[in-house]
Amino acid sequence: MGISEFLDNVEIAHFESSEEFWERLHGLPNKDVAVIARTIFQDRQSGRVNPLHSAFFFESLENTQFFHNVVSPYLTVLLQELDTMQLPAGDILELGSGAGVVACFLAQKYPEKTVVGVDLLPVVVQTAQKLAQLLGLSNIEFHQAEIAGLHLEKTFGCILSVALREEMSSGRQGSFGYFSAIAELPQALTAVSSPLSQCVAEHLAADGLYISLERCHDVASIASWVGELQSVGVSPDLESSTMLVFSGVLTGPEKMPLLLSTHADARVDAESLLQWRMNGSNETQSDELAVESRVYSQRAWRVVKAMEFGIRDELGDAAARVYLLECDREGLVYFTTNRGAREIVFETSFGGAQILSNKFEHMLGELTYNPSVVDVRSITSL
Ligand SMILES: C[S@@+](CC[C@H](N)C(=O)[O-])C[C@H]1O[C@@H](n2cnc3c(N)ncnc32)[C@H](O)[C@@H]1O
Repeated sequence: MGISEFLDNVEIAHFESSEEFWERLHGLPNKDVAVIARTIFQDRQSGRVNPLHSAFFFESLENTQFFHNVVSPYLTVLLQELDTMQLPAGDILELGSGAGVVACFLAQKYPEKTVVGVDLLPVVVQTAQKLAQLLGLSNIEFHQAEIAGLHLEKTFGCILSVALREEMSSGRQGSFGYFSAIAELPQALTAVSSPLSQCVAEHLAADGLYISLERCHDVASIASWVGELQSVGVSPDLESSTMLVFSGVLTGPEKMPLLLSTHADARVDAESLLQWRMNGSNETQSDELAVESRVYSQRAWRVVKAMEFGIRDELGDAAARVYLLECDREGLVYFTTNRGAREIVFETSFGGAQILSNKFEHMLGELTYNPSVVDVRSITSL
């Protein structure tokens, strides 16, 4: 059975545009659903992720059918990838299985295997069970359990987790306080284990495959996820891993690392992760690495002038740097913070730094008088 036929059978709604989504949402007979959904989407836009959101989106089969493709916009591309993979022998475990769509797809594709889904929320587990019933699957079971400290006393040929890590980790992800994602990688790769990586290591058969699709928004957070796995002896195989690129109706273009990992001694190092990340997807101009690969290229960029600004605001202490850079006839004004922002603000391909000098000084002036800036000093190197 093809993927679109499977999604049709599950009755997952498909929206061509955000306008169509909002219109159909407000046309639903239950007005509370629209009100709650709108509040949650606003929350998410401001970066707040809450495990209880899943309780609402997946609390019934109807909600799942309506929201799944919107809240899990990677769904179709993920199923396409899974469809082309040859999974190793043995049963399948999905951690944080939500409404069970991915698990049900695999149960249908591999009738000879048992698929087990585990999720924290009882209401979500019930929805997944109803979905399995709707599809007439008998080789699948869903259990309510907390993944931290889970001991199933069994190992699996294949383990999956999709968009789970962000909900489980309470710690900081991403920047370690460097001004450069490239400089940050070696430290990020030494991350310590997490309850999720420990659970994977414990339940993955000796020759098993762990497939993760986790929201890691920058190369440093991919590195810390890889570090968490490697610290428990599970190592991603970059040759078979890929950056999944997709577009959400509400969220627009996005990409997430689809990492295929095994129990292996081999470790991913900073250089190979960087190469993989730079080659693995079509970068857009705003991408941190598209910016950095230019600034840190083999070409001799000269720092014409650079300032560092100490910042104190409601998020705590931080620093920002503004560089005026030159290489032959090219000029750049490059802005970076140790909270992860990296941006080429102005650029020119003729006349070098001179052309951008006024804009650079203007930017320095604005920053100097910004109320959260507490300290300004000149720096000389990248
Ligand atoms: C964002 S949803 C993703 C669901 C599904 N994998 C998908 O992609 O559609 C994350 C799921 O992980 C579950 N979850 C979060 N923290 C968990 C934990 N500590 N133990 C078990 N499940 C958890 C949530 O209840 C939720 O259903």
